[in-house]
Amino acid sequence: MLKLKDIFPLYSYKKDFYSPDRNVFCRFELTNGKITYSVYKNQTEIIAKSKLGLTICGEPTFPKRPKIVRVREKQHRETIEMPWGEDQFIDNNYSEAVIFIAEDSSQERMITIRFRVFDNGVAFRYEVPPQPSYRQISIKEESTEFNVSPDADVWSIPSYQPDRYEYNYEKHRVRDLVKSAHTPLTIKISDSSYVSIHEAALYDYGAMNLKLNTRHILSSDITPLSDQTIAHVLLPFETPWRLIMLADSAIGLTTNRIMYALNDPPKGDFSWVKTIKFIGIWWAMYVGEWTWAQGEKHGATTEHAKEYIDAAVRLSISGLLIEGWNDGWEGDWLENGATTNFLRPAPDFDLEKVANYAKKHHIEIIGHHETVGFVDNYEKQLESAYEYYVKNGIRYIKTGYAGSMMKTHGHEEFHHSQFGVKHYQKTVELAAKKHICLDIHEPIKGTGIERTWPNLLSREGARGQEYEGGAILPSHACHLPYTRLLAGGMDYTSGILDLQNHRKRINTTLARQLAYFVTIYSGMQMAADRPFIYEERFRDEFKFIRNVPVDFAKTIPLAGEIGEYYVVARKDRHSFNWYIGGVTNENARDINISLGFLDDKRYRAEFYMDAPDAHYQNNPFAIQKFQKIIVKDQVIKAHMGPGGGFAIRLVNISAK
Ligand code: NOJ
Repeated sequence: MLKLKDIFPLYSYKKDFYSPDRNVFCRFELTNGKITYSVYKNQTEIIAKSKLGLTICGEPTFPKRPKIVRVREKQHRETIEMPWGEDQFIDNNYSEAVIFIAEDSSQERMITIRFRVFDNGVAFRYEVPPQPSYRQISIKEESTEFNVSPDADVWSIPSYQPDRYEYNYEKHRVRDLVKSAHTPLTIKISDSSYVSIHEAALYDYGAMNLKLNTRHILSSDITPLSDQTIAHVLLPFETPWRLIMLADSAIGLTTNRIMYALNDPPKGDFSWVKTIKFIGIWWAMYVGEWTWAQGEKHGATTEHAKEYIDAAVRLSISGLLIEGWNDGWEGDWLENGATTNFLRPAPDFDLEKVANYAKKHHIEIIGHHETVGFVDNYEKQLESAYEYYVKNGIRYIKTGYAGSMMKTHGHEEFHHSQFGVKHYQKTVELAAKKHICLDIHEPIKGTGIERTWPNLLSREGARGQEYEGGAILPSHACHLPYTRLLAGGMDYTSGILDLQNHRKRINTTLARQLAYFVTIYSGMQMAADRPFIYEERFRDEFKFIRNVPVDFAKTIPLAGEIGEYYVVARKDRHSFNWYIGGVTNENARDINISLGFLDDKRYRAEFYMDAPDAHYQNNPFAIQKFQKIIVKDQVIKAHMGPGGGFAIRLVNISAK
């Protein structure tokens, strides 16, 4: 029998590693001292030969003169139960190949590349074991290529911009991608082949952006630190997973859950974590009725908070966000971040009183920490600021990092640098320890760490409705499901029904605001308008907002195209009911929905749908509201006007 030592080391090697269903394979090659991979689906090349490489400061690119010293393969089959989210159960089925590489040089550096091949994607990462000569390294560059066709269409937002991830998606050819772009980066290779490149388990590294390298191939561009390295790490070290999601259709991408599967199981008992729907002392500031700052129009007063708690009770909404409650908003708040105090309430806001009133009425308060990116000031107070909330029974915090850069010790770092990544993680872990749930605004992008830290219930990380009033076009919410939302849930601040407010004109129809509760998932879902709008003008529409769950058992994408439209059905995790939502860009659309996915026979369908003449610009309130009995397998029709949408609640009325 051949012994391992007779086979290895190998100086030349080529092998295809197949997915469990054998439709996808990843080809690994070592030829002429170069390591490459490529990805195939249904025998078609999706990612052509692409180079791999990692450069440590002061050293040649890893690995130089590589030899393969061992290859280990295994199969893995598992169903993961998620504590909350869009799907209760997700598959974690893959074939794994671990390739151990050493260098044929006096230094004998070692590196491992771990591949996982799934039926709907490929992931790999670099693993650096402790080296003979050192235990910590500074990484200068990662040069991982993703060699997709230059002719393919790509939808991107640019990296390194002052407003972080908050841009409108633009469509280009891959060859024309001039700026570095954030991931998930979604690419249409052909009518039957879609790819999204992203990463998973980002913990101790700069975030991966993608840009064309000098060979005009899409390549990793890791966000640098201000010292121009991309990370300082201790060994053993592993990079985040490089993730290539694959689908035959655009909507096929939207339920790709590999990102979560690549993350570790929960670190501890998170049974205390509960998703939540909330209103807020918030939109009144955006429409100029109230202010964050103290003064005559101050929003976060004890009195307003109590009124909003009463409203939450009447509306049957379980949470209330209070912004502008603390010291720091006066004057130019974006500049005040170095001295913001997270323990000092405004003189007209009595936190203890408000918290007690909320408790008496069974309303959860969502606290607020706007750091403006002044990380040092926040970290100094982190422990005591969390403690202060906990002491007052507050278990949810929305944090914010407005400002174009993070500030620390007299210098600036990108939010998506290793520095930023580690700061966000510090807040998540401390919050977990104190049983606090977080909703992070101006966050680091999602890479699935919610699986390990389920107390991270939501984040922003894209243009949300605060940009309404001109900067959001109807296509935006039709881009999100295929791009940003592949990185997990988003606090889009849905449900703004006062569409024609003179300070903020909303570019949607009424029905579409309800649709968002289905099309844009968030573990903390805000009904963002002022409560009197719901109570006085839209009682009927609000019924849908109240009923729609924040936690689903199953998600079934029904139809859509990137930037055009998106229709999705979701089943409540805690009842037998289903919800369907649809949104379209500036083009009206009529679609047929086949109800074959329902699990029971009969449902009462409650429709909230654009009227035939609804239009986001000149007739946004035109809505059709009606109920009818539907049966499984029936085909129903839904109309969406320009900039519109629809929402349907399906109440199971089959005899159980
Ligand atoms: C930007 C956040 O996205 C928004 O929700 C918040 O109200 C402001 N920053 C102020 O913190």
